[in-house]
Amino acid sequence: MQKTSVADLLQSEKKGIEVHVKGWVRSFRSNRFVALNDGSTINNIQCVIDFEATDENLLKRINTGAAIAVKGILEDSQGKGQSVEIRVTKLEILGDSNPDDYPIQPKKHSFEFLRENAHLRVRTNTFSAVMRVRSALSFAVHQYFTQHGFYNVHTPIVTGSDAEGAGEMFRVSTLDAINPPMTDEGKIDYSKDFFGKETNLTVSGQLEAETYAMALGKVYTFGPTFRAENSNTTRHLAEFWMIEPEVAFNDLDANMDLAEDFIQSVIKSVLETCKDDLEFLNERFVKEESQKPQLQRSDMSLLEKLQFVLDNNFKRVSYTEAFEILRNSKPNKKKKFQFPVNEWGVDLQSEHERFLVEKHFKCPVILFDYPATIKAFYMRLNEDGKTVRAMDVLFPGIGEIVGGSQREERLDVLKEKIKALDIDEKELWWYLDTRRFGTAVHSGFGLGFERLVQFVTGMGNIRDVIPFPRTPQNAEF
Ligand code: 4AD
Ligand code: MG
Repeated sequence: MQKTSVADLLQSEKKGIEVHVKGWVRSFRSNRFVALNDGSTINNIQCVIDFEATDENLLKRINTGAAIAVKGILEDSQGKGQSVEIRVTKLEILGDSNPDDYPIQPKKHSFEFLRENAHLRVRTNTFSAVMRVRSALSFAVHQYFTQHGFYNVHTPIVTGSDAEGAGEMFRVSTLDAINPPMTDEGKIDYSKDFFGKETNLTVSGQLEAETYAMALGKVYTFGPTFRAENSNTTRHLAEFWMIEPEVAFNDLDANMDLAEDFIQSVIKSVLETCKDDLEFLNERFVKEESQKPQLQRSDMSLLEKLQFVLDNNFKRVSYTEAFEILRNSKPNKKKKFQFPVNEWGVDLQSEHERFLVEKHFKCPVILFDYPATIKAFYMRLNEDGKTVRAMDVLFPGIGEIVGGSQREERLDVLKEKIKALDIDEKELWWYLDTRRFGTAVHSGFGLGFERLVQFVTGMGNIRDVIPFPRTPQNAEF
């Protein structure tokens, strides 16, 4: 007999038929009602057991977490909160779960505790909902780009170029860690390493994606990226997934249009496909917020926040305008910022970004034309000679969600910038070739996928939106 998913059963109009379902017990009460979940939906199906006709030893094995197979008749439910239930005719235990050992009980667990049990936390409502939304968002990303004529490029994860400058890198090596081969100068001899040179895990697929945009026109990468920064925040991971579109002939305005349309589209998509999960996460969010002090509380529910992003244009503001707003702001004057904003050219910290988004503009903001000194070498220099065509998209509760730019397409200017940074031009010979042969205006950006998942699910900590988070001092599982 064919197995049916819980999601399909809960939608089913056909009553009185025999059904077959497999899943895990979420709870068992009154020796009669099994709440069964198979991952296909946030909702459980109620399986009603005739306990008088059921072997006592079998009843004892229906514990939270156990895998079971159920055959029975689909009926209108007598209870509240569900349309159908299964009157069980046959129940089989597929895998026991000892209630004395099983950590995930039907009660509220702290996120800290669940992080330590990341292999089991997806069996809770919150985490299964988050991970289904994550999956749907990932699909929506590929769908958006495919529908808009982009090609998906798989850029390398192991990279031999360390010139991106986006952050500290993790070395990839097969050399003997205790006795590595040494050069005459007393340095580690990477020519003897696996790749014959020093290699690292990539911090971004951008530079390689740029070379592909110069032939395929519109491309994107969506892959894991790695940063060996010692950032212990609710928004940083050492291993995260980044979406990086790169488009030939797009200038910065077109790049901003793309970022805004793309983010709005994927959010709209999951609002349609993940209704049940987002409603559950919305309730969770509202409850969580109500426990915070008034001043820190979000004045919108999660669903309202998502709708707000769809209904409102992102406010576009130059760095210089933002700098003036921040310099004259109350928290700056009252010295409430940890990093004061006094001189044009300072890098903006997350406290500043959040002030602009949450207090001042009260909507998503795109900051552009940043000082060249605080941005990467590949960003296009403006006529003023001191700002570059950079853009960061800032979101409420998250801060920076996107970083991107129009790229410097002029070979001579790019070479100058590389020289000023003391980067060896030879290392970037292949990148510079794109400027030597058929160079053109082009732009792109990187969206941190986990930050997007955080925003959409309302989860406060980035460690709770990726299955197995990698952070400083933590690579369990
Ligand atoms: O601003 P970033 O460093 O930009 C780049 O790497 C460019 N090469 C992208 C491009 O233009 N193609 O990173 C892009 C985004 C950030 O805005 C943020 O959302 C996310 O990646 N991000 C992180 N997410 C989680 N943990 C970290 N440690 C992150 N660092 C950056
Ligand atoms: Mg950035």
